[in-house]
Amino acid sequence: MKGARILLGVGGGIAAYKAAALTSTLVQRGAVVDVILTAEAERFISPLTFSSLTARPVYTSLWDAPERIPHIRLVREAQVALVVPATANLVAKLALGLADDLLTTALLAARIPLVVAPAMNEAMYENAATQEHLATLRARGFAIVDPERGYLAEGESGIGRLAPEERLIAAVERALTPQTLAGTRVAITAGPTREAFDPVRFVSNASTGATGVALAREAAKRGAAVTLILGPTLLAPPSGVSTVHVATAQEMHDAVLANAAGADIVIASAAVVDWRPGTPSPQKQKKGERSIDVRLEATPDVLAELAARKGKGFVVGFAAETDDHERSAREKMQRKHLDAIAVNDVRDGRGFGTGENALVLLWGESGRKDLGVASKETLAARLLDAIEELRK
Ligand code: CTP
Repeated sequence: MKGARILLGVGGGIAAYKAAALTSTLVQRGAVVDVILTAEAERFISPLTFSSLTARPVYTSLWDAPERIPHIRLVREAQVALVVPATANLVAKLALGLADDLLTTALLAARIPLVVAPAMNEAMYENAATQEHLATLRARGFAIVDPERGYLAEGESGIGRLAPEERLIAAVERALTPQTLAGTRVAITAGPTREAFDPVRFVSNASTGATGVALAREAAKRGAAVTLILGPTLLAPPSGVSTVHVATAQEMHDAVLANAAGADIVIASAAVVDWRPGTPSPQKQKKGERSIDVRLEATPDVLAELAARKGKGFVVGFAAETDDHERSAREKMQRKHLDAIAVNDVRDGRGFGTGENALVLLWGESGRKDLGVASKETLAARLLDAIEELRK
């Protein structure tokens, strides 16, 4: 988002105050944001709020600007335009191509991706006119960020609340990213698994799922239809990704075979627990004994089973290794019939629960690409670049 040029149009609804928070987030991420307020938006929030956040002039009228035709310049300079909140009136104007103020004139002149986030009263949102206008905009290629169900300013609960900021940001990022994975189905496993020992205790590991979540977010940003099969983690699944929550290796196995078998790309980043207590106790074990014996049995190898049944899909595994890591990983890749494997060196606790990671991608007899040491987000982007390259 660094250096991205964004045109933000603010409509006249109570959610206009949330557009200020969104502007702050965009600016903090390095975007250059030009803001247009409609006359109705100015009743809810002041231009000064936005000029203070962006350190740029804020536009409110076709006629007051020092230049003659600001609307054309504003949309030409921007890479993406978003409307937050989009009132029912704005949605209708956009669908009909009406241009009676600075914002609607600028948007009619736009040849850039347009993101529209409606927010309004439930009855207005559900009105057939509004729904038809939204369908028209969708068909024209607008990205509509659907509102949520929840508390509305009228003091009642219903559908019509502005989408949360995370979804707005995801839509902007997607609009700014070349859709290199459009039409591609991507399945990703992520996180640890938990194998019950008794109803309150389990065997697990230190995986947070951060790498898989970053991969899912990045693939969705590139236009893929993403299914994330996610073990227990505190991380929120990314927006725009279909997430299946699982706990055990067996559940991950079943979910993967049900959801990932036809995928074009499968990335197994999960740290699946290799052994589970053979006979978990139905009751909580009492501490009485000073030591106890537990027999562990192997869990299913999710990735190996999936790779054995794969069709045309490109299957990438992960290998967390402490010794002779590239040789062990290449051996693992061959044994599990993978197309490629991403190795991380987890000596001295690296990789798990840390922000940064180091990855090397291996394929075939000797294919090798060092993806470097970077944040998990950056590595996710580099790994997908490499996978896209290998699939060509
Ligand atoms: N994996 C899996 N199911 C398992 C174990 C591993 O799907 N039961 C996947 C992981 O998601 C990863 C790859 O297999 O993509 C390698 O995982 P790793 O634990 O490093 O390999 P193992 O097969 O468990 O081999 P070992 O522990 O002996 O190194």
